[in-house]
Amino acid sequence: MEMEINGRTRVCGLIGNPVEHTLSPLIHNTLAEKLSHNLVYVPFLVEGGEKEAGQAVRGAYALNVLGMNVTVPHKEHVIPYLTELDDLADKIGAVNTLVRTEGGYKGYNTDMTGLYRAMSSEGIRIEGEDIIVLGAGGAARAVAFLCASYGAKQVWLFNRTIEKAEQVAEEVNAKTGRECIRPMRLSDYAMLPEGKFLAIQCTSVGLYPNVEQAAIVDAAFYERIHTGYDLIYRPAETRFMRMVREAGGKAYHGLKMLLYQGVIAYELWNQVEVPDELADEVYKRMKEEMGIEA
Ligand code: ATR
Repeated sequence: MEMEINGRTRVCGLIGNPVEHTLSPLIHNTLAEKLSHNLVYVPFLVEGGEKEAGQAVRGAYALNVLGMNVTVPHKEHVIPYLTELDDLADKIGAVNTLVRTEGGYKGYNTDMTGLYRAMSSEGIRIEGEDIIVLGAGGAARAVAFLCASYGAKQVWLFNRTIEKAEQVAEEVNAKTGRECIRPMRLSDYAMLPEGKFLAIQCTSVGLYPNVEQAAIVDAAFYERIHTGYDLIYRPAETRFMRMVREAGGKAYHGLKMLLYQGVIAYELWNQVEVPDELADEVYKRMKEEMGIEA
């Protein structure tokens, strides 16, 4: 169905650099089409740093833009230019969604609520769970905040550079008022207590084109994992996922997280609930676009 752009069409968009490979227009324009909303979603290349990101936020507000997604490198840059900040986004210190309110934009981090919803949709829980997080970069740090904020029992945060794991653990424990994050060296998985774990893979290792790599390649580590969730979705089966499966566990790639960060942003902008069947339809289109089968 062709959408007609007219005097009432609302605009949403993505600011980032680069933006040309984004799947977000597919997500939001499909949702708008299926829900018969008069809305278009477009990419906006914003070069530069915090100053330019701030100019983009102010300009968007002046242009009556309904909502924005924010991607690399601006997820932190936009924060000083917002009038309100969601609590989880505030803790993480990174925002990927701006929601128009009276007087300015409110910032959210739907990457993390999207990950939570993607995991829930697969029946994976955080609350009360023992969780392994691989990595201590920006993504891992956000995931550690999600786990601590959503009631994980214990989180073992493994990183090649132990100092970074210690830093992240200290910060997340302090800001969430919980002592649930424990920093670990990659080689120290034998120190894990008994039982099996949910593992969330947050390093950049294994990302296309380095598809044969994983942060940990010892089969014994994978024996400890009942479910592996990789934030990477290119390739659709990472080495990490393959090793989880070979050890008898279940493994998931990160495309559903991408879907749900978009779905939640769309819901915030339009004050609607996207039904599961519609989310599934969008997901099908994303997989087609990516050439992913499962
Ligand atoms: P992002 O924003 O995607 O999290 P990042 O902040 O650059 O990216 O973090 C990359 C993560 O992948 C880090 O945890 C990094 O480990 P170090 O802190 O030791 O650098 C991890 N990583 C990258 N290459 C790695 C490799 N070859 N082996 C193990 N870990 C690696």
